[in-house]
Amino acid sequence: MRMKNNNKIFYKSEHSDYDEFAANFLYEKFTELQSRQKKVNIALSGGSTPLPILELLKNTNLNWSQFAFFMVDERCVSLSDPQSNYGNISRVFFKNIASQSYSMVEDGADFTDSIIRYSEKLNSELKFNKDIPAFDLILLGMGDDGHTASLFPNTEALLETEKIVVKNRIPALNSERITLTYPLLENAREAIVLIKGKVKCEIMREMYAKKAKHYPMYKLITSSLPMKWIYTE
Ligand code: 6PG
Repeated sequence: MRMKNNNKIFYKSEHSDYDEFAANFLYEKFTELQSRQKKVNIALSGGSTPLPILELLKNTNLNWSQFAFFMVDERCVSLSDPQSNYGNISRVFFKNIASQSYSMVEDGADFTDSIIRYSEKLNSELKFNKDIPAFDLILLGMGDDGHTASLFPNTEALLETEKIVVKNRIPALNSERITLTYPLLENAREAIVLIKGKVKCEIMREMYAKKAKHYPMYKLITSSLPMKWIYTE
């Protein structure tokens, strides 16, 4: 099912073939990007949804040397920790393709230093749009509380309007994360949101239908960021 709603397009896949559907969709998008420009900068979200999709995508014949991958967010843990987004995506994806990839966390460095260096990397590697670095594509997920990246409800990072990457304390998880902020996310050329499950689909519909402002994802859907949603119940 394909619906257009002020620059937001929706694709519904049957649950059984969601990963293949999403991998094919991303293959088409990446092929379009690699034909359009020499270097393609893409930001990847963590969590579990993207992993089987990236595992399928790595086996395609894309010209991986044209792609540079960055992280949308990260847990404040070492790269070898099972919670590490970069560690998990490296295991299934980065280790198998000839692309440059950038971790938010550097083993051995403290998280504040890692954030400074990651921010410098964004400023040096990305093209700029409206004086802010701009990704060619951002892959986003969404939690059952409507968070995206590591922009969780009622957390400090939601209020950040200047910095492009910050540390964010998540009381609900009793943990700290590193996350890209709204200014950087909204400045991307486009975003693809990958969600599975009834709860997330209900949040997606609620935000578009009833303007449920309390979900952190809501700020992105009401921005000018072109978004495509690939979803299954
Ligand atoms: C993270 C993610 C986060 C994720 C959602 C959905 O570090 O967990 O970046 O924003 O996209 O929590 O996670 P699942 O795909 O595991 O449901």
